[in-house]
Amino acid sequence: MPKTVRFGLVGAGRIAAQSIAPALKASAKATFQAAASRSAERAAALGPLTAYASYSELIRDPEVEAVYIATHNGLHRELALQALRSGKHVLCEKPLACSAAECEELLVASEQTGLLLMEAFMYRYHPQISRACDLVKRGAIGNLRAVEASFRFPLNNPSDVRLRREFGGGALLDVGCYCVNLARLFLGDKPARVSALSRFDSAHQVDLSTQGVLDFGADGVAMFSCGFDGGVHQRAALIGTRGVIRLDAPFITWTASPRMSVQVDGEEVVMQQDEVDTFQLEIEDFADAILTDSTPRLSADEGLRNARILDWIKEASRRSE
Ligand SMILES: NC(=O)c1ccc[n+]([C@@H]2O[C@H](COP(=O)([O-])OP(=O)(O)OC[C@H]3O[C@@H](n4cnc5c(N)ncnc54)[C@H](OP(=O)(O)O)[C@@H]3O)[C@@H](O)[C@H]2O)c1
Repeated sequence: MPKTVRFGLVGAGRIAAQSIAPALKASAKATFQAAASRSAERAAALGPLTAYASYSELIRDPEVEAVYIATHNGLHRELALQALRSGKHVLCEKPLACSAAECEELLVASEQTGLLLMEAFMYRYHPQISRACDLVKRGAIGNLRAVEASFRFPLNNPSDVRLRREFGGGALLDVGCYCVNLARLFLGDKPARVSALSRFDSAHQVDLSTQGVLDFGADGVAMFSCGFDGGVHQRAALIGTRGVIRLDAPFITWTASPRMSVQVDGEEVVMQQDEVDTFQLEIEDFADAILTDSTPRLSADEGLRNARILDWIKEASRRSE
């Protein structure tokens, strides 16, 4: 039998049931050792070898080598710290934590324990993203001047965790984090200026939408827009001096084959995309890094660098009020 990493999944919400548990079961490099939920039935329904009705019990289980955190954002920091201090590697749903200060704590714990820590930005594992990076690097669209990214969907359930401030709710942390991650991938980590405007929900005290501009000086500019207040919409465009790369489904890539096109000097080529499970690819990469004592595709400080820009955006939007 090839060696696998024994994963424990914490939280049995929508993304755990729909995507993470199936990917853990499908991965040749993972054993779905345990799941924990506030409800033992929900944990068992995910199909692990052991089900817990307590997150801490799973984290203490000596059979578990790596913990996948899939709870609401407000618990990410606390659970990741517990897991690292209990000797487990941590793969944590986005955002890694609710602020750069929280991410810094996690990074210190990961460095002190020598255990892996990764923010689960599964979209980065879709081949269309590496293809877009290659095209930009090769100068296929000339010099990159601008990145546009948007991610919106309607949130109609007033009790959703995304509308709870104390659970790390808000559109910026939920979907804006993808737009920022994509902008960073192409333009770097140090915008010279950040401007942003948020619309808040007075009942829940979270941003229902945030839009803004990250100015990377001579390297280009990123425009982003995220929200819970409109129809389902996700798009990205990489605009160069000679052409444009368009991604029609840059983030939620479990659609069979997202459309990506490259338009150069007026000619458009649509690129065929493979059908992949980005969650499975992410889990396999993380497991591989544990098994081979190497680093996964996304280093531990990626989450911190994303969070720093998210903090700047929050600050800029407060200044603009
Ligand atoms: N990568 C992606 O594509 C993707 C997509 C969606 C969401 N996410 C991320 O995944 C995480 C969970 O999102 P979701 O859509 O699965 O949310 P959800 O369906 O609302 O589930 C909420 C999660 O929080 C846990 N929880 C703990 N205390 C809770 C409380 N007091 N009230 C409600 N829930 C509580 C629940 O666990 P129990 O089992 O104990 O109830 C459950 O795991 C978030 O960090 C989100 O950003 C990622």
